[in-house]
Amino acid sequence: MGQAIYNNVHLGVYPRLCTLILLIYALVYQRLDRGATSRESRLSECRMKKISANTDSFQSGADKYAAYLETPEGRLRLDLAFANLEEFLPLPQATRSLHALDLGCGTGALAVRLARLGIHVTVLDNSPAMLDFAKRAAQEARVAEKIEPKHGAAQLANLFHARPFDVILCHDILEYVDDPAAVLRGAARAMRDSSAILSVIVRNQAGEVLKAAIQAGDLAAAEQNLTAQWGHESLYGGKVRLFTAESLQAMLMEALLAVTAKRGVRVVSDYLPPRVSLSAEYDRIFELELKLGRRPEFAAVARYTQCLARYAGPVTEGSA
Ligand SMILES: C[S@@+](CC[C@H](N)C(=O)[O-])C[C@H]1O[C@@H](n2cnc3c(N)ncnc32)[C@H](O)[C@@H]1O
Repeated sequence: MGQAIYNNVHLGVYPRLCTLILLIYALVYQRLDRGATSRESRLSECRMKKISANTDSFQSGADKYAAYLETPEGRLRLDLAFANLEEFLPLPQATRSLHALDLGCGTGALAVRLARLGIHVTVLDNSPAMLDFAKRAAQEARVAEKIEPKHGAAQLANLFHARPFDVILCHDILEYVDDPAAVLRGAARAMRDSSAILSVIVRNQAGEVLKAAIQAGDLAAAEQNLTAQWGHESLYGGKVRLFTAESLQAMLMEALLAVTAKRGVRVVSDYLPPRVSLSAEYDRIFELELKLGRRPEFAAVARYTQCLARYAGPVTEGSA
């Protein structure tokens, strides 16, 4: 027995056994590791597909989006967003004109309104079809010289090298980009200084709960939406990222953006009974929505959340 152990150790059986165990361990570990990596890459591939499906929709379905903006619901979102923004616009400067950036400008509806106030607006979108709409809108409103179209992706970190902008709009785009926090960080880097204002609008998770319950009468969906991170995009049939007050606040803070005001956009208008005509009663509904959206208890359950924020980080010399 003693001789057998001596032979095993000294003739190299144990060392070979150890090597074999290590080899098997390495192979198994490699497989597991590869499994995890490919799972991760499949997930990210899936997310990218979802995002690119949305991007494709905004290209091929730009006219559908333009038509939606003509409906009372679409008009209300635009009109309320602009009314909320107007309150915080920087005062016109005596020595230079104000510059705005509209990220994911869509049809350029708000860019045109800013241009009419004398503001120079860069409109950025990754859909050439949307940019065509924006260019046409600028020409029809005779403000083309104030609007500069730029084709590109909003999440590119250093889209603008200096800090040229007094106003940045980020309306209804964070729901569709792969990395919304990166878009906000990029926007913050492009804001002139603490006098500049960022207006961001996102789809509110709480609003999706009410929509499912009141509009669709779908109690299961309402319950599910209490924690849902994605909602249904009714226009194009895809998915849309949902935000909570906390998730938006955290992203803004991470980008060194301090919230100046919070508003709700469309609190009750999506659930009015058919006898109330949204078109005929548009002005009254608009006024009511404006009041509701300013009160935190109603803003909390609106379809969209609008935050007005200022850059609160350091501005390095010569960057303006
Ligand atoms: C729902 S629309 C909002 C348009 C406009 N901001 C509004 O409030 O009406 C979203 C817009 O963002 C654009 N978009 C989506 N992802 C983008 C990205 N990664 N970079 C630039 N634009 C993007 C789409 O092409 C589309 O025009």
